[in-house]
Amino acid sequence: MLKGKSIILGITGGIAAYKGAALCSKLVQAGAIVHIIMTESATRFITPLTLQTLSRNPVYIDTFDERDPAVVSHIHLADHADLIVIAPATANAIAKLAGGHADDMLSTTLLAATCPVLVAPAMNVHMYEHPAVVNNLELLAARGVMFVEPGTGQLACGYVAKGRLAEPEDIVLAIESWFGRGGKLKGKRVLVTAGGTMERLDPVRYLTNDSSGKMGFAIAEAALLMGADVTLVAGRTSVAPPAGVKVIRVESAEQMLEAVTGIYDDMDIVVKSAAVADYRAVQISGQKLKKSGEKLVLELERTTDILETLGQRKQNQFLVGFAAETEDIDHYAMDKLRRKHCDLIVANDVSLDGAGFNGDTNIVQIFGSEGLVEAMPLLSKREVAVHLLELIAGRLAYSGGNGK
Ligand code: CTP
Repeated sequence: MLKGKSIILGITGGIAAYKGAALCSKLVQAGAIVHIIMTESATRFITPLTLQTLSRNPVYIDTFDERDPAVVSHIHLADHADLIVIAPATANAIAKLAGGHADDMLSTTLLAATCPVLVAPAMNVHMYEHPAVVNNLELLAARGVMFVEPGTGQLACGYVAKGRLAEPEDIVLAIESWFGRGGKLKGKRVLVTAGGTMERLDPVRYLTNDSSGKMGFAIAEAALLMGADVTLVAGRTSVAPPAGVKVIRVESAEQMLEAVTGIYDDMDIVVKSAAVADYRAVQISGQKLKKSGEKLVLELERTTDILETLGQRKQNQFLVGFAAETEDIDHYAMDKLRRKHCDLIVANDVSLDGAGFNGDTNIVQIFGSEGLVEAMPLLSKREVAVHLLELIAGRLAYSGGNGK
């Protein structure tokens, strides 16, 4: 997929610069022609010789170190690149790109480039959440810059939080998505729901579930890389949503219903990966509930089934539901597909190790009106998302419209 593609890999000065070596190696192995541009500070973490050896090309650091009199390096590189990837992208590199600075080889080449740019940020969580960084990321997303979100885990500074550079495999997957599938969902409006809903009992207590939002966020990120215009309706999540998508935050199933039905008519594809509460409290207490007696009985009532509502109102939308099961998957998945008028159901056995809520992996089976379409092995949620969207794009292309 990457054979002959010219990729500039910009490596900036964070500890994750060492992962740039693995990324470079994987891109070269996949057939890409890789030109490395390092910032001065990146050379403090990893040597240019390592990257020259892995990329089999000279490494650029200094704008004025012109080795070939026939060309101006930053213009020549920019003109011949199919894609620029910045991994890791520090807060400073992101700020420079957002501000249009051109004070080193990488920032100057970025200004001269007309090809797409993919940014993989890596930094301390407080830096990542700083309003200046958030603003810069939003500005870049609005300009069409693509992102591979940082992962959550142990950071070099000691925090366990969001900010780790995405794994090189995931960055390669995003790059392949762009080259191989880029444009497959171009012009399509995609709505993804993610996370769990919260049903209030009183001002400080609520009913919720273990959904992290990771599966829905991976779908939103992959749809964006395939050229779609993505809107996320997100409930309670344990990770931040990907940059570049419109996010509508909701709490309850009722709010999610309102948000989703409000924009449904404009959508081409709807993927309902949110874990929506089936019941809510009949009475939400305005005051904190005080304890009294040994037992407390909560009276709950059914929420509206959002997916079923969408299924009933369906015009041309391609509708995808999720089914979390612990037994008899085929039976329950097919039942949900028919009952909720879905085009596809993504079912998983949440009792299996590596599947379901909170983790970074999933094991899913996808059902269509004809029965089982695909049974996937244990894959990262990003890989599941890419496969699912490929399937949707294929069905849309085959039907010339709504998948029917
Ligand atoms: N769903 C929804 N609104 C609800 C409940 C569920 O839109 N009030 C959607 C979920 O987003 C998911 C699908 O329905 O896409 C399946 O959810 P799940 O809870 O597994 O199925 P249910 O139909 O609620 O059936 P059951 O709980 O009996 O398994």
